[in-house]
Amino acid sequence: MNHDTAFNLRSLPFFFRMGICALVITLLGGYIVSGLHLRWHYDNRDESPGLTINDIIGAYHGVQTPSPLITALESGHPDTIKDSERTTLLAWLNGDRVSQDYDNLDLGDQAPSEIIAVSCLDCHTRSASGPDANPDVPLEYWDDIQKLADSKDIQPAGIDIIATSQHVHAPMMAIVMLVLGMLCALTRFSNRLIGVIVFIAGFGLLIDMAGWWITREFASFAYVIVLGGGLYAIGTTLISCLILLDCLLPSRDRKLV
Ligand code: HEC
Repeated sequence: MNHDTAFNLRSLPFFFRMGICALVITLLGGYIVSGLHLRWHYDNRDESPGLTINDIIGAYHGVQTPSPLITALESGHPDTIKDSERTTLLAWLNGDRVSQDYDNLDLGDQAPSEIIAVSCLDCHTRSASGPDANPDVPLEYWDDIQKLADSKDIQPAGIDIIATSQHVHAPMMAIVMLVLGMLCALTRFSNRLIGVIVFIAGFGLLIDMAGWWITREFASFAYVIVLGGGLYAIGTTLISCLILLDCLLPSRDRKLV
């Protein structure tokens, strides 16, 4: 289609082409590993397992998740508890002696553990049954309570950390794509097709990198980071596959070795 006379990959000697294959595979492998690393790294920024959009928002914007206990109590749950006890529980949860006062003997029957035992455990034990019960959210032990008492306040990574990370990532990822794009331009495949892929990957990288900063202000830009990163990853993979194919497929007009 193109470069009939110009220099092209498939006219290179066998070992040269195999060397390019090895390098391209190493590069792709490196991306898969860093993808996994990203997963492990951001995994537990929010409570839900796995890499979720909230983990990304947590890293670049920060996330405030109020304590589920406070949310439930403030929403009027359960409707059976006395107002004074709801107020006592909320004051305790919003205070800074949550663990010390949980079963503080000095508080008598106004100790949170006592109020919870009377007002909540009918429905919130592991063995609770019945139409109104919620055994999935047990409130029996301090360990149960502790998990639900904390408000999560995830701070975004500092500007210096983002800058250091971008200082490494932006040039490296851009150069990788430039080199891959040029190698790919030397294959038998259409430059128009390759151009579209390079554009998608380049545009993806640009909005990904810009998104790191914009997400600090606007949490919803986390989706742009994911979209941009995804486009870059797809572009890199496609271009790499084209290069590998071109190096491995026999050339029509030349000897293999
Ligand atoms: C009559 C039974 C009943 C009582 C009493 C009760 N709960 Fe619940 N609770 C439920 C049920 C059912 C749900 C799940 C549906 C819902 O959210 O209303 C629930 C949900 C919750 C949740 C939300 C869990 C989540 O998914 O985030 C919390 C927190 C909670 N209860 C705390 C309490 C506390 C604290 C008390 C005592 C002050 C209490 N509950 C008393 C039945 C009860």
